Amino acid sequence: MSELVIRRGELKDVAGIVDVHCSELDGTWYSFKGGVREEVEGPTSLSLYERWLNGGSWMSPELCAVYINNLLLEGHIPLVAEQNGLIVGELELFFGWESDGNLYAHIGVVQVHKDHQRKGIGALLIKEAINYARKRGAYYLTVRPREGLKDYYKNLGFGEWLKTVVFTAEASPYVARITWEEDNTYFNKKKFSRFIMGQEQSSAQIWQIFHRNQFALPEFTREPIHTGRASTDGQEILAIFYPHVYCGDMANVYAWSDTDIRAEHIWTLLTLAYHFGYARVRSLLIEEHFERLKSKLPLEEMERQEIFRIEL
Ligand SMILES: CC(C)(COP(=O)(O)OP(=O)(O)OC[C@H]1O[C@@H](n2cnc3c(N)ncnc32)[C@H](O)[C@@H]1OP(=O)(O)O)[C@@H](O)C(=O)NCCC(=O)NCCS
Repeated sequence: MSELVIRRGELKDVAGIVDVHCSELDGTWYSFKGGVREEVEGPTSLSLYERWLNGGSWMSPELCAVYINNLLLEGHIPLVAEQNGLIVGELELFFGWESDGNLYAHIGVVQVHKDHQRKGIGALLIKEAINYARKRGAYYLTVRPREGLKDYYKNLGFGEWLKTVVFTAEASPYVARITWEEDNTYFNKKKFSRFIMGQEQSSAQIWQIFHRNQFALPEFTREPIHTGRASTDGQEILAIFYPHVYCGDMANVYAWSDTDIRAEHIWTLLTLAYHFGYARVRSLLIEEHFERLKSKLPLEEMERQEIFRIEL
């Protein structure tokens, strides 16, 4: 293999990063006109939003530039693998202080170009991510392994940490007295309270994606993202309500609090989702909390996930 360099990604790498991520589609693109998914020849006829629906912010240079720009401005780190001047892989490291007082680094994304997979590039990116996280003073590095990749991460030194359950629940006016204050400044210092609901990635990555990373496209600005503080009976919760991509009447909900999750918190969040005009909520609970609360609440289990971590 000719020389491979792992280095910090910059705005100039955006075109290469887009190539890497689009290679995952194997040339199969879809249009979504009128909500109907249909295979198309290539991406040229698609709007930026339709390209995004094919795989997120990395599917067009326009949105990817905004995304990487925001990531860099917030002090997170994209790493790229470069071979003969070509970007062949990308990894994104997110940083934030979690409620145990420790700085956590989180691998939110790792992608190797389809034509260059299984040549050790992914492992090199992850090893370099461990080095970068250590240098920044993080105490743990976490990742949510895709299905089939748990042993891969174990071989790189990660171990099982959190088991979580994805659920949906009906939004309804369950709680009478709630105060809601829209405010998006709480997490500016990237210090997070306990992540009580919605932990599919780290707090820092969720905050970055669902709050900091907005695109000036009508499809993104049509529905408001609610970010703020809910108070009921002296209990406070910080929460984000983000419209689900494919089900407009469903909100993805992420919530943080200084206390452990209780049934009352969930009733409050389901009530707020109702007032924001949603019919359902999608979120996650840590497995032991889900098992403790499921008999008291109308939660429908969707799938189980796991987050791994390595101590640095
Ligand atoms: C997962 C990924 C980053 C690994 O990078 P890579 O450079 O291809 O992998 P490496 O050469 O470092 O390691 C190869 C090993 O990874 C594991 N692996 C890679 N892809 C795999 C897959 N799709 N299914 C199962 N194992 C896989 C295997 O253990 C493989 O060893 P083998 O080739 O001897 O079977 C890369 O395959 C990729 O971009 N996949 C698509 C996106 C993705 O799944 N990202 C991970 C999100 S957590």
